[in-house]
Amino acid sequence: MTSANPVRPWCLPGLALANNLVQAPLAGFSSLPFRLLAWRYGRPGLLATEMISANALRQNPRAQAEYLATSPEEGPVLFQVWGAEAEALGLAAALVEEHGAAAVDLNCGCPVRKVRAAGAGSRLLENPPLLGQLVREMRRRTRLPLSVKIRLGPGPGRLNAVEVARVAEAEGVDWLTLHGRHAGESYGAPCRYDEIAKVVAAVRVPVVGNGDVRDGESAQRMFATGVAGVMLGRAAMGAPWVFAKVRAECAGERFVPPDLPAIGRIIMEHHDLLAQLLGSERAIRHCRKLGAFYSRGFSGAREFRGRLSFCRDRAGLAGLVGEYFRDGAPLVNPQDNSREGRAGGG
Ligand SMILES: Cc1cc2nc3c(=O)[nH]c(=O)nc-3n(C[C@H](O)[C@H](O)[C@H](O)COP(=O)(O)O)c2cc1C
Repeated sequence: MTSANPVRPWCLPGLALANNLVQAPLAGFSSLPFRLLAWRYGRPGLLATEMISANALRQNPRAQAEYLATSPEEGPVLFQVWGAEAEALGLAAALVEEHGAAAVDLNCGCPVRKVRAAGAGSRLLENPPLLGQLVREMRRRTRLPLSVKIRLGPGPGRLNAVEVARVAEAEGVDWLTLHGRHAGESYGAPCRYDEIAKVVAAVRVPVVGNGDVRDGESAQRMFATGVAGVMLGRAAMGAPWVFAKVRAECAGERFVPPDLPAIGRIIMEHHDLLAQLLGSERAIRHCRKLGAFYSRGFSGAREFRGRLSFCRDRAGLAGLVGEYFRDGAPLVNPQDNSREGRAGGG
């Protein structure tokens, strides 16, 4: 890369981050084990929890312990909450501050039916005044840096991200994250860099760009919109080192991905961290899902995943991982880039 490196330290009010790469909130994935690995192997400037229901926190915070768990061994964590009631979101903002959050984010982009049915997530894009009220209450209840994560708009006929961003800015967010698709679009739709650039130009607060970033080149494309930082989601699933890859490639350096045995060790590390948090049964169930991501793009992955679905315990998992993730194993992939195509949810 010949242009200046856009990956650099990032100072938000009250929060100095080592770099401007952000790990995306990923429901069902970005719990403490995922974040610990992203921190160990990728070192993004900011990590993020899965989205946490403000109502559930209000009703019974103890039942949400696994979502609230943090560790001194991870980096700064953005806690993301979702909901549509000011009182619950204000309480949630105050509560996550007590639990060691470095910052708090309001989810305004989730297209999932259950969330939308509650009037939350991407439904908030349809009602900027309500979104503003919710941000105001959260702002009132916490001194933490505050952000919103939005999409381009509620649907194809209404790309109102500029309006929404201005409302959120007026109510005191410190930055906003913009996923370059509208709420009706799946990951097959192209990310709209032109629309992201419009929002960057319309507000004074920093904008973090999100959508399809997975290497130096795609990060540079996102940074070209003028965003202050970039957020990576799917690319980090099964590749916690991707942040280091983006950093190296933006600096014009070649990144050498971990080899098969190293990936195998990371899978087992992920399992063991999950077992500590969730117990062994749930950890194994989760690993069946994770295996698909760690083996993504490798020839032989289908066979590995098929056998993984029969794994019942740690010993079984270790045996299978040892068989496939070793030098000269059938799970060959000489080209790291071929590991990028994948389906996503959320
Ligand atoms: C499995 C999965 C879970 C997700 N969960 C959340 C979530 O909890 N909160 C949120 O704001 N976005 C969520 N998203 C969206 C991502 O944060 C991100 O906006 C989206 O994947 C686009 O970024 P990417 O192209 O880097 O993956 C999720 C996406 C996926 C694939």
